[in-house]
Amino acid sequence: MAHHHNHHHNTHIDWAEMAPHLESQAELYAPLYERALAWLGKEVTEPGLIVDAGSGPGVVSCLFAEVFEGARVVAVDSSAPLLERARARAERLGYGDRFGTLAGELPDVLGELDYPADLLWAGRSLHHLGDQRTALTAFAERLAPGGTVAIMEGGLPARFLPRDIGIGRPGLQARLDVVEQEWFTRMRFDLPGSVAETEDWPALLTAAGLKPTRTRSFLLDLPAPASERARAHAAASLSRMREVLSDDLDADDRTTLDRLLDPDDEASVHRRSDVFVLAAHTVFTAVRAH
Ligand SMILES: C[S@@+](CC[C@H](N)C(=O)[O-])C[C@H]1O[C@@H](n2cnc3c(N)ncnc32)[C@H](O)[C@@H]1O
Repeated sequence: MAHHHNHHHNTHIDWAEMAPHLESQAELYAPLYERALAWLGKEVTEPGLIVDAGSGPGVVSCLFAEVFEGARVVAVDSSAPLLERARARAERLGYGDRFGTLAGELPDVLGELDYPADLLWAGRSLHHLGDQRTALTAFAERLAPGGTVAIMEGGLPARFLPRDIGIGRPGLQARLDVVEQEWFTRMRFDLPGSVAETEDWPALLTAAGLKPTRTRSFLLDLPAPASERARAHAAASLSRMREVLSDDLDADDRTTLDRLLDPDDEASVHRRSDVFVLAAHTVFTAVRAH
């Protein structure tokens, strides 16, 4: 009991409800993922089975199917509605015959895979698992000899606005980062079986019995003037922050955030000319010995 105050902490995430946001976010980030997958392709050649652990709606799973033409891709997630979207997307794009889904809790559900993976990708999903060290060990155990684990974790918080936006106190996004980090800590604490862990990913991959190979960060740089899609993404992200972080912001910043999200306001992200999307995500790879 003592460990589960996630209602009080506002840290429970309804993943199915997040579907549209996850999907449009991954679509907007496609150029970043394409570069990350091309980079992975230099290390991983002709994988037979790719597992996307914590796939969500499968935008990235389908990019794997596109980039690794011969591979079978299995999208794994605890949210069945998200996996339905992943399956529908794979069918729509013509990958249906080499695309599978597996519903259940990571990491245990990986035991249900029929074959070991040549590439196991976990994109921004590992940090949603209570015991990340145990999860990485389970990932490693599901690899074929010579197989690769690639995790996308960390990087830099996304920026949508300049420091001074002409309303409120300058530096709003930096202050949002601070409260977001605190929320993230509470979110992790509230996970079932939560274990505090130093986020030294190569060290954790080593502890899982793998040999870390490469680390690289990928940039998404969509400068102003933003496309409608980029603008919508900035609005959706700030709107989610208002929902989740509102109590932790001071009144002045709350007012600024409200103005930024009010479509009728000239100064809102829906109308202002200086909106952009700038983000960096880091990928860590490690291999299992032959
Ligand atoms: C931030 S989303 C990332 C989705 C996708 N990989 C991407 O980058 O767009 C995290 C995903 O992990 C899934 N997830 C969270 N906890 C999980 C668990 N215990 N077992 C399986 N999947 C989980 C969620 O359902 C969600 O789809």
